[in-house]
Amino acid sequence: MDPADALALLMSPAGRVDPYPTYERLRAHGPVVQAGPVFYVVTGYAEADAILRDARFGVMDDGLRDQFMPGWRESPAVLSISRSMLRTNPPDHSRMRRLAAGAFTPRRIAAMRDVVQAQADDLVDRLLAGGRGGAPVDFMAEFAYPLPVGVICALLGVPAADRPLFRRWATDLTGVLEPEITADELAVADRGAGELRAYFTELVAARRRAPADDLTTALVQAHDGHNSASAPQDGAPDRMRADADGESLSGDELLANLIVLLVAGFETTTNLLGNGLVALLDHPDAAATLREHPEFAPGYVDELLRYDSPVQLTSRMSTEPSRHGGLDLPPESWVIVMLGAANRDPRRYPEPARFDPWRPQIHPLSFGAGPHYCLGAALARLEAQVAFPLLLRRLPGLALAGAPERRVRLTLRGYATLPVTVGR
Ligand code: HEM
Repeated sequence: MDPADALALLMSPAGRVDPYPTYERLRAHGPVVQAGPVFYVVTGYAEADAILRDARFGVMDDGLRDQFMPGWRESPAVLSISRSMLRTNPPDHSRMRRLAAGAFTPRRIAAMRDVVQAQADDLVDRLLAGGRGGAPVDFMAEFAYPLPVGVICALLGVPAADRPLFRRWATDLTGVLEPEITADELAVADRGAGELRAYFTELVAARRRAPADDLTTALVQAHDGHNSASAPQDGAPDRMRADADGESLSGDELLANLIVLLVAGFETTTNLLGNGLVALLDHPDAAATLREHPEFAPGYVDELLRYDSPVQLTSRMSTEPSRHGGLDLPPESWVIVMLGAANRDPRRYPEPARFDPWRPQIHPLSFGAGPHYCLGAALARLEAQVAFPLLLRRLPGLALAGAPERRVRLTLRGYATLPVTVGR
């Protein structure tokens, strides 16, 4: 199959729901394939890793956005993502990332284990109550969503009562991360972004009035600047405010980073919990071993991240000529890096379609690589390392109650619904 046809198949509903056969069709043409004049797709592990770390590549900047996505400044969804660290290049990227990184140091994340454990235990209690007498419960709605959203909201200081609001808004917004999006889908994404921006505008105002010990307050203070005597007035122009260290955020950046931290903090981890549970239920012997030996959780979670990656792709633009996978890539090449395909590269992982938590040195590319390497990787791993052994131990009879329904999404791969019985 021609690479352009394979790519079209990947964008179709069937291709999005099960991309793995199409990855192999692309891989048959080499680890990097050309799918258009300046358009490339990467399925090789070594090549994906190298491109993500290559300083001649960056995320799409405003100039390129103007060229490829005219009118993007009118889209709250594109604006929300593109003003965050996720879609900016140095020096803006490094400045924003430094401001949030303090909340994600290994020590801070390790200290959250008790919070994660308590929330997960509470959710298992609720699964037990909802599933009493063999009633099916939706694992996505009752566990996979509320655990990560509860944890990231605790970090950001979002009130517990507001947590149910975000699932719909985030699902709507993240349509904008798909490699192709229709005008209708963009309108839905814009609606989600509008709700999230309105929500965070209020939370920012609340933290300005009454600072708290949370990440939202820290970012609000970075925006307002250590030196500014008073908070900005409503309607004040959105401009950079330099503080004593030169570290600050514009108003758009403040909202965009809060939204990305919230949404990246749970959409992905929700999918890790859903995809991972299905993989474990499909492999009862491996699940039994984890039930008996929770200390094996780190290897299991990394293999789950590799086997069915919650984030299947990201993209980069090149600024200079480069050579990868035997191809010469001109400047302004647009490259889709298929993380989910790289994680199944047979040159790196023998029998890649086999779930095997005993693989040596798994190091999946599921969290990306290079300057944009996932800020929340340690937190996501912690949540899954706590959740899976706990679920298996407290719900030994956990079983699928019908076919789970996949979301028709390529970038953020997960289930819409996952009916289970809890075995009591
Ligand atoms: C970036 C995956 C959980 C926050 C990324 C990237 C990937 C990723 C692939 C890089 C994107 C790129 O290079 O273009 C995942 C997966 C997760 C997860 C698979 C769960 C299983 C989290 C959590 C947070 C988070 C819990 C918490 C806040 C972020 C942020 C970035 C990011 C802020 C942008 C970093 C930057 O651009 O410098 N994530 N993520 N993620 N992730 Fe995660």
